Amino acid sequence: MHPLYNKVKNTLHKTLPSKPFLGIMCLLLLPFIIFLHLLPATIPSAAPPLHPGYYANSCPNAELIVRNVMKKAMIREPRSGASVMRFQFHDCFVNGCDGSMLLDDTPTMLGEKLSLSNIDSLRSYEVVDEIKEALETACPRTVSCADIIIMASRDAVALSGGPDWEVKLGRKDSLTASQEDADAIMPSPRANATTLIDLFAKFDLSVKDLVALSGSHSIGNGRCFSIVFRLYNQSGTGRPDPSIEPKFRQKLDKLCPLGGDGNVTGDLDFTPRIFDNQYFKDLVNGRGFLNSDETLYTYWKTREYVKRYSEDQDEFFRDFVEGMIKMGDLQSGRPGEIRKNCRVVNGGPPMDLVVDGYKDRRILSY
Ligand code: HEM
Ligand SMILES: *[C@@H]1O[C@H](CO)[C@@H](O)[C@H](O)[C@H]1NC(C)=O
Ligand SMILES: *[C@@H]1O[C@H](CO)[C@@H](O)[C@H](O)[C@H]1NC(C)=O
Ligand SMILES: *[C@@H]1O[C@H](CO)[C@@H](O)[C@H](O)[C@H]1NC(C)=O
Repeated sequence: MHPLYNKVKNTLHKTLPSKPFLGIMCLLLLPFIIFLHLLPATIPSAAPPLHPGYYANSCPNAELIVRNVMKKAMIREPRSGASVMRFQFHDCFVNGCDGSMLLDDTPTMLGEKLSLSNIDSLRSYEVVDEIKEALETACPRTVSCADIIIMASRDAVALSGGPDWEVKLGRKDSLTASQEDADAIMPSPRANATTLIDLFAKFDLSVKDLVALSGSHSIGNGRCFSIVFRLYNQSGTGRPDPSIEPKFRQKLDKLCPLGGDGNVTGDLDFTPRIFDNQYFKDLVNGRGFLNSDETLYTYWKTREYVKRYSEDQDEFFRDFVEGMIKMGDLQSGRPGEIRKNCRVVNGGPPMDLVVDGYKDRRILSY
């Protein structure tokens, strides 16, 4: 049964005045109850509309606060910009931009943090905690964690020398998260271009959006774990991926020897702290880090975009912004809330029951 249904029913039970009214009330409520039953099928279109300036009255400094915390975090640890920016992709693709990937596991819920693509990989959750803490001080229970991800991702790009843009806001935070869904949806670094085109199409994102959004790998790092197969055994051939430029392969072999530490990281492009079109220049030269990167140049349908962006940074920036806004529009339409703490749902299990194990855990002082 839909959770909203029970809630409404319970409220009615407590507030209904006396028996004589009961029959007539039931009749009056019938259409309403039938409507509630239909909700699961109808809500996707009923997701609240997002718009710029959503917090203009309720929290006028929200965007300024987010940007300032991002600035501080990126001075403290330059890579954290990329790490936080990646959250938008991992949040929005799994049941919409709803902050679900920020929820810690509980005894009754396996969240997304330990899913295949996220475990030992997503990082800088503490930066979102810090933003949330600052926003809760300025305007309690007003700004959603889902919106924090969208603002912080934009800020990470802008603060790294990339484009700056206006974001739409007004998202709600999910009441749950799903490791299973994250496992099923998020793409592998081994993915080829056709797999990626098909995946993005499911979210109404075009081939152009796929290539432009992959340009996010202009900043940040990846682990040896994500590339050893293409260095030593591409597609089970026992050979390296032939599309890797030989000198670059030597460098990667040295960084990631067979049987070495999978957690060692390398740069996703030659200028990993600057958001620019270097990533695309690298792909043209056979110096993409991930298989899912280089495949965008070796495959004919995506190659033209890679070439264009490698020659025209402005065009890349324009298409990237368009893609980020489209990706930010993904919404599940499920019921939501404004979380007080991005790691737990409101009224969720007490913090000491939450499964531990995140090195960067920060208990907020509410
Ligand atoms: C097209 C499909 C994509 C695949 C297969 C993919 C895969 C990956 C992988 C495997 C890593 C390195 C993780 C590790 O080794 O621990 C990575 C890093 C990263 N990804 Fe993606 N990604 C994709 C699209 C995107 C998109 C759309 C965005 C954002 C808009 C994004 C943002 C990032 C960033 C910023 C990093 C670096 C994070 C850091 O340094 O901590 N990726 N991605
Ligand atoms: C891409 O990968 C999928 C899934 O692994 C595979 O079925 C398909 O044949 C590959 N396509 C190309 C063009 O290599
Ligand atoms: C390469 O991968 C294939 C298929 O996954 C596997 O059967 C083979 O043992 C691997 N070879 C090496 C040298 O790891
Ligand atoms: C990376 O480090 C984590 C935590 O220390 C460990 O559990 C994991 O097995 C390591 N991953 C790889 C691929 O070596």
